[in-house]
Amino acid sequence: MEQGDFALSDQEFDRVKARLYAEAGIALSDSKRTLVVSRLSRLLRLLNLGSFTAYIDYLERQADAAARQEFINALTTNLTRFWREEHHFEHLTGYVGQLMKARPTASEQRLRIWSAGCSTGQEAYTIALSLLEAYPELKRWDFRVLATDIDTRVVAEGAAGVYAATELAGLTPARARLFEPYGDGRIRVPAQVRDLVQFKVLNLVNGPWPMRGPFDAIFCRNVAIYFDKPTQTEMFSRLGELLAPGAFLYIGHSENPGSGASRFRGVGKTVYQLTAPARARNAA
Ligand SMILES: C[S@@+](CC[C@H](N)C(=O)[O-])C[C@H]1O[C@@H](n2cnc3c(N)ncnc32)[C@H](O)[C@@H]1O
Repeated sequence: MEQGDFALSDQEFDRVKARLYAEAGIALSDSKRTLVVSRLSRLLRLLNLGSFTAYIDYLERQADAAARQEFINALTTNLTRFWREEHHFEHLTGYVGQLMKARPTASEQRLRIWSAGCSTGQEAYTIALSLLEAYPELKRWDFRVLATDIDTRVVAEGAAGVYAATELAGLTPARARLFEPYGDGRIRVPAQVRDLVQFKVLNLVNGPWPMRGPFDAIFCRNVAIYFDKPTQTEMFSRLGELLAPGAFLYIGHSENPGSGASRFRGVGKTVYQLTAPARARNAA
């Protein structure tokens, strides 16, 4: 505990956990207690509240939507990076090559990919950069990447597309050259790539999803690890409903769509293909 942090009783910790689970489906483990204290103490100070009980009472009165959103933002884990789990982008590139051959006419040349739980946007931009690098002709397609996250702060950062130069560490020089200097030592995703990616705030657990699909691929990586099994199963099932038949779901290395999501067939390391036909749907 740091100086200025508030004490958190077991009962208060249980209330924090219940609230986060109800709002975001995130099941906090007991090992996150120190993290909860340090991240939320800052918010208590900003609100001028004297205890966690006062803080949770305040959130539960539902009066302050911004404070409730800050609570979620403070407790999400947003670790990500460009070309994380590179094999997914190689697989996607191969699949999109096949799709492009199967969609030769202008009216068919539509490609939709969703980065669900996109954090600060590196995953969505890696999708766009990888595909444009492999297939420059995609610039003439109706090609869009949707990037969504529950955390409003990361969505805003992603939309700006500006990153610390250290984000380029570990990338090949050719990939590092895809970014532009931003002028203050940071780097930026070029405008023509930013324009392909649409960022939106979306809760994957609660409430309706406005998009109708179908998506040619969905990346939902390192998101389900924060959920319990029933929440994971429900989310993967909903994702399956938005995938085109034969399209792919990419998930994190320690995740599994589970037995409830039997419509998915594992086709490689954490790559799943939709096999069963999804419900009838219209184009987005
Ligand atoms: C570890 S990051 C993963 C980022 C990226 N997908 C990757 O693998 O590099 C997990 C993201 O899931 C988001 N998240 C957690 N619960 C969510 C929910 N209920 N709805 C939408 N996004 C959620 C968090 O805000 C966080 O940005």
